[in-house]
Parts: sequence; C-alpha cells; structure tokens
Amino acid sequence: MNFLEEIKRRKTFAIISHPDAGKTTLTEKLLLFGGAIHVAGAVKSNKIKKSTTSDFMEIERQRGISVATSVMGFNYNGYKINILDTPGHQDFQEDTFRTLTAVDSVIIVIDAAKGVEAQTEKLMNVCRMRKTPVIIFVNKLDRPAKDTFDLLDNLEQKLRLKTRPLSWPINSGPDFKGVYNIYNHNLNLFHGNVQNIEKGIMFDDINNPDLEKHIGEDAKTLREEIELVEGVYPKFSEENYLKGEVAPVFFGSALYTFGVQELLNTFLEIAPSPRPCISEERQIIPSEKDFTGFVFKIHANIDPNHRSRIAFVKICSGRFVRNNFYYHVRLGKKIRISSPTAFMAAQKEIVDEAYPGDIIGVPDTGNFIIGDSLTSGEELHFKGFPSFSPEMFCYIENEDPMKSKQLRKGIDQLMEEGVAQLFTSQFNGRKIVGTVGQLQFEVIQYRLEHEYNAKCRFEPISLYKACWIESSDSETLKEFKKRKHQKMALDKKGRDVFMADSKFILQMARDEFSKIIFHFTSEF
Ligand code: G4P
Repeated sequence: MNFLEEIKRRKTFAIISHPDAGKTTLTEKLLLFGGAIHVAGAVKSNKIKKSTTSDFMEIERQRGISVATSVMGFNYNGYKINILDTPGHQDFQEDTFRTLTAVDSVIIVIDAAKGVEAQTEKLMNVCRMRKTPVIIFVNKLDRPAKDTFDLLDNLEQKLRLKTRPLSWPINSGPDFKGVYNIYNHNLNLFHGNVQNIEKGIMFDDINNPDLEKHIGEDAKTLREEIELVEGVYPKFSEENYLKGEVAPVFFGSALYTFGVQELLNTFLEIAPSPRPCISEERQIIPSEKDFTGFVFKIHANIDPNHRSRIAFVKICSGRFVRNNFYYHVRLGKKIRISSPTAFMAAQKEIVDEAYPGDIIGVPDTGNFIIGDSLTSGEELHFKGFPSFSPEMFCYIENEDPMKSKQLRKGIDQLMEEGVAQLFTSQFNGRKIVGTVGQLQFEVIQYRLEHEYNAKCRFEPISLYKACWIESSDSETLKEFKKRKHQKMALDKKGRDVFMADSKFILQMARDEFSKIIFHFTSEF
C-alpha cells in the first residue's frame, strides 16, 4: 500500500458522552465488529464514578486501565481505526479537551431518555471551536425514550448544531422494533443480543407489504415518519458534515448491539481521514513527506517505582520510522525514539513505522510536555492546546520544609502532565493551583506524597475565573495591570492572567477597561 493510501484508510476519532450514556459500551461494540475483541466485557470502563471520589486505590487502578485503553487501534474492512478514549469523570475534562486536539472527528453518545446533558454541551463547545465533524449516536432505545422528533429538537438546541437523522427508530423500550437506515434505505428488525453480533430480519424496502407481518401498524407510522423526515430535513450533505456544520444522527442500543453496524458503516464512509494540522508557522498537510507530530497527552506513573511516563504523539504528516532521529522543537535537539508503541486491540506493541492519523506512545523520562512538536528539522509550533479557566482555585503550600525541592519538582511534573493549572501571583509570588473539580486536588496531594515524597496543603481561594487578557493598546494594559496588581498572576507560559473574584468584579473591569478583551481560554 502506498503512502497516500495508508493515510486515506485511517480514521482517528473519539467517543464522548456524559457519564453513563454508554460510551464504554459503544466502544466495546465497535471493537467487537472490528474483531479486536471477541466477547463483550473485555474493555473495562475507565470511569471513576462519583461514589469513589476519594477512593485513591480506585483512582490508581483506573489509571492503570486507562493507559491500556487510551488508544484502541484496529483494522476493519480495509480501514485502520483509531479510537481515542476520554475520561468520563467531569473533573478530568481538560484531559478530554486535549484528546480532542488529536482526533479528526467525534462520535457523541446521548442517552435517549435524558437527551443532552451538561457535560456534553461543554464538550460540544470544544468541537465547535475546532470545527470537528460530529456524528451523534442516540443510545438506549431498548429503554423508554423521549419522542424522536423532540430528541432531535433537543440536540439542535442544546448542542447548537444542525442535525440530520440518518437512521430512525421504531418505538423504544419494550416496543422497540428496530432502526430504519435512512442513509442506505434498509431496515433491520430488532433481535437483541448483548454478547455477540446477530443479524435481525432485513428489509430493503420499507414499502414491502411483508413489513406489516412483522411489525403491524408500526409499519404505517414508520413510513409516515420517514416521509416527514425527508420532507422537513434538507438532503444530507457530507460536505457540511465535514465542515462541522451538520451532525448526522443515528439511533440504537449499544448494549444490544443494535444500530451500531449502521453507525459504523456510515462512519467509515463519511468520516474524515487525517485532516491538516495548524501550527503558528503554517498549515501542515498529512501527505507531506516530512514527519511531523505533536504531544497531546502525557500519562505518568505506569510503574510507581520508576516514575515512568508515556507521551502520546499524534502523527500529522510523513511516515514515522522507529530509531530515526527527529527534532524536538522546544528543546532544540534531535532525539531518537527507539521503542515507540502502538495500541492495537487494547494491546501495546512496539512499532517500526506509523502514519498520519496514528498515535504512538513514546516512553519519556521528562523530555516532553503537552503541545511539544516533533519534526524532521523544521521549526514548527503546533497550535490548538488552549487551557480553559479553572473552576476551583487554591494556594498550594509546602507542609514539609525539608522537602521543598521534591515538592517543586512534583508540582512541575504534574502540571506538565496537565493534571491541573499553575498560576503564580504577581503580587506575593504565591503559587495558585486551578482545577475543574475537587478530585484533582485530591489526586495532586496523593501523587505528591506517593511519587515525590512531598507533602502539600491547599488553602482555598474564592475566585470566579482566570482571564487571559489582550489589548492592542499597550498603555491601557499597563494601566490595568498596575491597578489590578493584587489580582494579577502569570500562567505557566508567563502570560498575564487576571484572577477575577466574582462575575460582578469582572463586569466592572470590562466596563472600565473597554479596550481590554478578557478571555476564558489561553488561546484566542
Ligand atoms: P459511559 O462509558 O458513557 O459512562 O457508559 P457505559 O457504557 O459504562 O454505560 C453505562 C450503563 O448503561 C451501563 O450499565 C451499561 O450497561 C448501560 N448501557 C449502555 N448502553 C446501553 C443500552 O443501549 N441500553 C441499556 N439498557 N443500557 C445500556 P451499568 O449498570 O452502570 O453498568 P454495568 O454493570 O452493566 O456495566
């Protein structure tokens, strides 16, 4: 297979959802279709459920599992599919945001009884920012669900995205009878099986009078609804899907492996192959000959005794070859990657080569941070790794003065991994840790103690948001920083951040300094 064909056959995507909507189950069923696993239950959920918030053993155990399932690659029908896993727990949302920088498209799973939930809305905002093509899978149709048209309205409103159903359910709950594949015009009647893949009765034409024999009156309703759908919705436009403007919607039951085949087949047909990546210098096209890639995730502590890490590199262009020397742009030096791993069917194995769209794991002893570029020599800085304003803030204090070096090292490394964000007050030099949720503080404290032998204490600060500030008027910026000196901090890259106490104070600052733009993300 030539280089261009290798790129074209790759589909790299993430499945995202609100916890419990069925992400793990769907992932598993896709692996089942791909032959990557043979019986359901092989992929363990990596979610840390609410009830185990303070159970550190659980966190440790989950972390072990999630390395194995971070990337799941498999071959199916000539395609190379890479599914990137995302943490379910909302306190690790930033991890998901970063994973979204490495995918070319996304499947969003929605619970048919609940509709769009809060966490999914936030994730959708990131997809919108990046114009990531999105396919929606409405799951759990085997349980009583909302009305299909209401669900579609809910999707459009909450996700602020046009939708286009490409499959259609016949009832839900105990009356669920199957899904009509609008895209391929055939109907698969429900014949549920949790463990294996079984074909139901297939109809190539819903106008076939035999349909009544199987589903009675529902056949008439189905025909009417499909007629309505075709009348109300414009024809599905693949082009608009690829631009991230319209999301095709599929219905089914991941648990009973129903509607999954329709989803997978259409996904393979329409989902994008590796897309160009943006750097500060230029756009990089996957088919360029020279290798480029970037680090989007660092996974630490695979072995707690060795403080080992894996840097996950997404390949943007060129062919990656093991043992070749590549240029580490931030460090300004060439490095040789001798044992890169790929993740096939939830197994890690050393690979000799990899192509755009692939993810490789590079063993790391502290050379990489998130956002690092690797190239064949060119000075490139990949863009698109924004930090989002944290929701919770604490001063971090040393509890053991004899261990201040260990503490500093530990904090630096944990922040490089992206566990949380660190700010330094410009007023008093104190270090402020910002997180999305309480769980992250607990993880930091636990890991500092167990991996770095350092003890810390957190002192909560009541802050509303961290705002990255921007203005074309340098005098105004100077004046603002002088006036708000007590509330100014620096982020890890040394950028000015205004720590707003409250929504009200931020509004006052906005009113008073109209030439300054306040951003809740570090990239704008
Ligand atoms: P998540 O990764 O999005 O958090 O969700 P996950 O797949 O773990 O699914 C959450 C729960 O919903 C699981 O039940 C799972 O079996 C169930 N589920 C997933 N898809 C469907 C579906 O299509 N229909 C029905 N009825 N249930 C579904 P659980 O009891 O929390 O866990 P488990 O003990 O069954 O694994």
